[in-house]
Order: sequence, then C-alpha cells, then structure tokens
Amino acid sequence: MSILPVPSFLDDIKEKGLRKAVLEGIDETVTRLTAGMNIQDIREALRGDPPSRRPNPRLTPHADGFFLHIRPAYYNQAVTGIYPTFRMGWLSTYFFILEIITGIFLMVFYTPSPDVAYDNMMEILGNVPMGQFMRDLHRLGAEAMVLFVALHMLRTFVTGSYKRPRQFTWFTGMILLMITLFLSFTGYLLPWDQLAFWAVTIGTSMAEAAPPEVVGTNVNLLLRGAPDIGAGGLLRFYLLHVLLLPLLTIIFLFVHYYKVVLHGHSLPPKLEEVGQDTAKRVPVEKRVYFIPDVLTTELMWVAGVSFAMVMMVTWFYHAPLENHADPQVTPLHTVAPWYFLWLQGMLKFGDKVLMGVVLPTIIFGFLFVMPYLDVTKSRRYAHRRFALSTGALVVALLIVLTFTGTPYYGVEGSADQEVTESMIPWRKTRPATRHPL
Ligand code: HEM
Repeated sequence: MSILPVPSFLDDIKEKGLRKAVLEGIDETVTRLTAGMNIQDIREALRGDPPSRRPNPRLTPHADGFFLHIRPAYYNQAVTGIYPTFRMGWLSTYFFILEIITGIFLMVFYTPSPDVAYDNMMEILGNVPMGQFMRDLHRLGAEAMVLFVALHMLRTFVTGSYKRPRQFTWFTGMILLMITLFLSFTGYLLPWDQLAFWAVTIGTSMAEAAPPEVVGTNVNLLLRGAPDIGAGGLLRFYLLHVLLLPLLTIIFLFVHYYKVVLHGHSLPPKLEEVGQDTAKRVPVEKRVYFIPDVLTTELMWVAGVSFAMVMMVTWFYHAPLENHADPQVTPLHTVAPWYFLWLQGMLKFGDKVLMGVVLPTIIFGFLFVMPYLDVTKSRRYAHRRFALSTGALVVALLIVLTFTGTPYYGVEGSADQEVTESMIPWRKTRPATRHPL
C-alpha cells in the first residue's frame, strides 16, 4: 500500500530497491522529454545500430512531440545531399536562433531611450564581458540571415519547388522574407548612432511617400511615433524588433515547416515525370530517417557554421558604430544596409513615390502570387528556359542596382565637401560611407 495518498517514487523504491527505481525513473524522464525514446533507443541511434524494439521508437517523437511534429520522420535519399537544398532552409533557421540567443544577451544591457541607448552600446563594447563578441555575432548573424533566406528563396525558385502543391509554402516563405527584412531594418536604428539614425530616417520617409498623402503621413506617424524620429520612434522600433517581429517569425516558421512535412521535400526535378509530385511516396529502400541521420548532419552544420562565425567575429569582423545620432548634422552620404542598396539605387532613377513605393509594392506583390500565376507544370530546367532566364536577369539587375545604390554612383558632392568629409576622422571608421575622392 502507498505510504502517500498518491502513487509515488517512494513506493517504487520500496518495491524495486533504490538503484533500480532511480535508473528506471531517469529512463522514464528521458522518454518523456524526447516524447518516445528511452536511453537505450538514443544509444542505438547514435551508434548507427537499427532500433531493437518495435514499433520503431525513432518515429514516436514525430507523432507525439511538439517540436518534431514539424519535421518529416524520413526523407528521400535524393534530397539529403547538398543538392538540391544546399541546407539554406536549415541555415536560415540556424541564424534566426542565433539572433534570439545573442539578442537576449544584448537586451540585458540595452535601454531603448535616446538618452542612454548610445551609452549602452559603448558599455557593451567596452565594459560588458563578451559584449563586443555578442554584438558582432548578432550583427553578422543578422546579415547572414538575410543572405541565406534570399539564397534559399533563389534555390526554391530555380528547382521549381514553389509550384503546385507548394504554392502556399512559397507564400509563407515570402512572409518570412518580409519579416526578416523588417527585423533587420528595425534593428538598424537601435544603436542610435549617425548611421542608424539617418538610414532609418530615409527608410521611414519612403513610407511617408506612400500615396495617397493621408496614408503616407499616418503610416509614417505610426512608425515614428512623431513627425521625426525620436524617443517614440526608438521605442516602437525596439518593440517591433524584440517582440512583434520575432513572434511573427516563430509563428510563420512553424507554418512553413509544417507545409514541408505535409507535401514532402520536392525531389530534384529530373527524378519525376513532368507534372507529377511523388515526394510523399518514399520507397522503403530510399528512406533516410530524421533520427539519427538528418539530425546529426544538421548538428554538424550547426557546429561548423558556429565555428566559422566565432572565427569571423574574433578576427575579421566588427559591427560598425558611428558617432552619437545628431538630427542637426546630416552626413554627406547616408548608406542603406547592403541588402537595401538596390532600393536606394532605384531611388536615383526616378520619383520617390514611383521608385520607392509603387514599384517595390508591385515587385513584392508579384512574388507573393507568382506560384498561383505559374502555368507551366514542368519543373525540369530545360522546360523552364524563360523563367530561369528571367530569374537570372533579375539577379543581374539587383547586382547593378546595388552598385548604383552606393555613393560611388550618381552622387557628386562639391570637391571641397568631399575632401573635408574624407578628412573627418570619425567618418574614416566606415569605408562604405566614404566617397572615392
Ligand atoms: C526565415 C526564413 C525561412 C526559413 C527558416 C525557411 C526554412 C525552410 C526549410 C527548412 C525548408 C525545407 C527545405 C530546405 O531546407 O530547403 C524550406 C522549404 C521551402 N521554402 Fe523556406 N524558409 C524561409 C524562407 C523562405 C522564402 C523567403 C521562400 C520563398 C519565397 C521559401 C520557400 C520555400 C519553399 C517553396 C520550400 C519547399 C522546398 C521543397 O520542397 O523543396 N522559404 N524552407
């Protein structure tokens, strides 16, 4: 009979002895934590042995666990190599998680107020243990996330993986792309230095240009919290950056991942008949199980990329910080972050409303609905010459526009202005803002 009103661990000890009760208790806790795998199952998986009990315990975490619910239990061997995914989707997720970890660290030492934000940054760089390391990782991770999300998008376009039935996977991907860009943009303001202040002033003034005037003015007011960027704007950007946008990312990441489970990873185009989608039907001999094969490969990528990131920020990369933001001093050249330079480049070719608002809205709007408009069934490269050539042309155009977005193109200050600018010591810390003169 139980010595407590409910069955307890003490009863177990009484019945089985201390050693057995403790070992069984640990095993049961591990099984609960992994949603189905006990210590023996984990050991077998890590050794590469086949599972010793049936039904296969390595499938249970996918059915019963929350996190693995969004990962397929097995993959087709054809999609587990570098091609066709190039691991870009996984790397995008990796960088998002890196941003959360380093971001929480930075939040501890940062207050979103114009009075102290810049001082906090100096503190983080000079006084906080590992502060500069964490800031550099956060900044480099953010840039890498934008890069890998864009490359992942390019690869799903090239392999035609956006086509039926994966239109909505692409659609949620577009939402993730927009959120990623906004995450970066809102983070840009937080150091409250000249670079941040002016780049964001220009960015939000594009929102102000949105027609009709009543919309533009109010969107701008909503973003900045006042006609100009100040305490209200900083607080709003901070809250978007640390709360709303990460929350939305997590929600849409789950939807995006779940859609991949639902439809299966698209196979390399040449392995399927035109118009067919056999991703979900994986023959037994072609199955590569998530536990342990895909999981361990992914962990290996995490280790490799983390090592590369640590090397980068230790020796080669430091996040820039300019002088304290000063609304009275307009820098000679304000440069957008590299991933928005194409937009800044477009602004040099025409009207602010057309180039800064109308065209980008049309471009992104088109990208959202592209899979629904696509009429070619085939995913084969040879059948998609028009789409692939157009894609290549767009990438080339983006590169050219990115160049035109830099101060090297179409910006001529007077010679004395440029010389004085290049001689101001603090401008020298950031080569990208200097003119070739
Ligand atoms: C934070 C951003 C994103 C993350 C973390 C992410 C993650 C992933 C992952 C892990 C996969 C599984 C296949 C793979 O690894 O390549 C995937 C598939 C896919 N993603 Fe994304 N994605 C993101 C953004 C995007 C964007 C911007 C697009 C396109 C606009 C997109 C479109 C797709 C499509 C169409 C698939 C299905 C691919 C297939 O079945 O072969 N994703 N995504």
